[in-house]
Amino acid sequence: MKPLTTRWALAIGWAAAAAVQAQTPPAAPGSAQLGRNLAATCANCHGTNGNARGDMKPLAGMPADKLVAMIADYKNGNQPATIMHQIAKGYTDEQIRLIAAYFAALPVPAARK
Ligand code: HEC
Repeated sequence: MKPLTTRWALAIGWAAAAAVQAQTPPAAPGSAQLGRNLAATCANCHGTNGNARGDMKPLAGMPADKLVAMIADYKNGNQPATIMHQIAKGYTDEQIRLIAAYFAALPVPAARK
């Protein structure tokens, strides 16, 4: 197995495990802290605090409505994807809203402005 393939396999396995954990009922629904915790599962591929490197799409600074709509499209199959259609299904609508609010509040990465 090539190193890159191994990394992706690890990332996907980790994301799946994180998605299962995300099913745990939130202690404080609607809290920014919860949004931040949930969004941490995206960092593996989209970079720390949504600051993606290389070809990966950054999530930092993305308007919340746009992120929610994109995840909905992945979830219902309107947007073909290699991985996001599976990841999207691991979150409730409320969890996606919290994640979207977290990323929307972050500054757009400097290199992408
Ligand atoms: C295992 C790696 C991985 C993880 C974890 C991951 N993503 Fe993604 N994401 C991708 C890839 C790859 C794409 C490109 C579409 C595809 O092929 O699935 C993408 C695309 C996206 C897009 C579309 C961006 C654009 O501008 O077109 C959004 C929004 C997104 N991801 C949100 C998230 C959120 C929110 C999380 C955390 C809940 C997350 N992703 C976790 C790999 C990942």
